[in-house]
Amino acid sequence: MRNYSRVITALDVEDYAKAKSFVDKLYPQVKVFKVGLQLFTSCGPKIIRYKKGAGVFLDLKFFDIPNTVANAIRQGVRLKTRMMTLHINGGEEMLAAALEAAQEESRRLKIKRPLLLGVTVLTSQKARPRAVLSLARSGLSCGLDGVVCSAKEAALLRSRIKQKFIIVTPGIRLKGAIADDQKRTAQASQAFACGADFIVVGRPLLKAADPLRALKELI
Ligand code: C5P
Repeated sequence: MRNYSRVITALDVEDYAKAKSFVDKLYPQVKVFKVGLQLFTSCGPKIIRYKKGAGVFLDLKFFDIPNTVANAIRQGVRLKTRMMTLHINGGEEMLAAALEAAQEESRRLKIKRPLLLGVTVLTSQKARPRAVLSLARSGLSCGLDGVVCSAKEAALLRSRIKQKFIIVTPGIRLKGAIADDQKRTAQASQAFACGADFIVVGRPLLKAADPLRALKELI
């Protein structure tokens, strides 16, 4: 039970009604929900406002020219999201513009700045830990608050990067469970032991008849 506050559930469903029903099943045990490309394309910002007490991780993995990303980040701040993602591969200029926009907009609105997390290498791809480390370093040197990587690289990042930063790890599965399209998977306990602050779980809960029970098993 103790790690529920460190679980982020991915609302990878097709519409607002399904997302709401899923949130209702898991809130308040789960306090942060991830809105990604599918759901945001389907129903837009209204899902972000659904549960007042729940935090939203807007996972749109921005990757565009600096001006476009900075303006998208500004909108994400206005929606009062708690975290947002962008690709570290988008480059230093893009990351710096995003950070500046987030700071400015949060100051203007007098709200807490959302955390900006850099995607290193997607967990659906094979990756050399060194490549993930190098991307993480580059993102953090631009001022990002943390990175998204698999549990497989989390320990390396913790041992080599001597600063405070957040690690979010998707690709979480029960031992022996199907990995779907994920390549770098781990169990929840491994991810936390390797230094993850938060884990992201989607299909193992979305496909379960009783998502709360599935979450208990996972943790
Ligand atoms: O269903 P599953 O648990 O594999 O879902 C993982 C979630 O984490 C998905 O919403 C996916 O978009 C997201 N994600 C990921 N790998 C990253 C970043 C985010 O799988 N590097």
